[in-house]
Amino acid sequence: MSGPSPDVVLRAQGLTKRFGGLLAVQNVSFTQYSGEVLAVIGPNGAGKTTLLNLLSGVYRPTSGRLELLGQDVTALSMEGRCHLGLGRAFQIVRPFPEMTVLENVTVGALFGQAGTRLPEARERAYELLERTGLAAHADKEAHELTLLQDKRLEVARALATRPRVLLLDEVMAGLRPAEAQEAVALVRSVRDSGISVLFIEHIMPVVRDLADRVVVMDQGQVLAEGTYREVTANPQVVAAYLGTETELQA
Ligand SMILES: Nc1ncnc2c1ncn2[C@@H]1O[C@H](COP(=O)(O)OP(=O)(O)O)[C@@H](O)[C@H]1O
Ligand SMILES: [Mg+2]
Repeated sequence: MSGPSPDVVLRAQGLTKRFGGLLAVQNVSFTQYSGEVLAVIGPNGAGKTTLLNLLSGVYRPTSGRLELLGQDVTALSMEGRCHLGLGRAFQIVRPFPEMTVLENVTVGALFGQAGTRLPEARERAYELLERTGLAAHADKEAHELTLLQDKRLEVARALATRPRVLLLDEVMAGLRPAEAQEAVALVRSVRDSGISVLFIEHIMPVVRDLADRVVVMDQGQVLAEGTYREVTANPQVVAAYLGTETELQA
């Protein structure tokens, strides 16, 4: 079962991250298949962001192993993983504020592939602005964008690196419902273009609408895994959410 499979984009085996006495992520294993939209959910402090940081290479795991497209990337840097096809849009939106929208995405295109020339990178960046609905704002400085536009810019920057797998950490946070629906449509179009998406989200209707499969974390561990319907009907998951403000619904 453990040989490389072309259908597997990410395979985490026993990923663990300790901060001093705290096991923020503990023995987490999961598999993401090609083309799949995988959601990671769980109450605040469950370890979701730490897990994403382990996947993208911000942190090295205390123990465990990560495979990306059949390669062991456990010891690989963020840049190395990016070059292999892992893209990330950050929870805290942080484009270069004084650069234009087009320049910001161009940086992503240059970063993602060694040897990309500037004209080619700019052309790719412009295409991505069209795809993410930002073309009309190409020459604005990034700090002039609205929150929704900022999120789109983050996705465009991540896409510019030509990922096979895109990691998103609560990109819907702070959006109004209509804006969240637009963001959902954007993620779907990313998926439809053949990119596997792994996202952390606390807005349950978004998880229900987007995720093929859901991994539920609690206290650093995987509590349940399955379809949205399956995990939200799981008594252990319901108990983990009890007393939080998140409403689970089938
Ligand atoms: N850099 C860090 N140093 C120490 N503790 C951390 C660090 N990052 C996260 N934690 C702790 O790890 C646990 C999981 O945090 P986090 O991954 O941010 O959870 P989530 O994203 O699910 O809310 C929390 O108890 C948090 O305080
Ligand atoms: Mg988090």
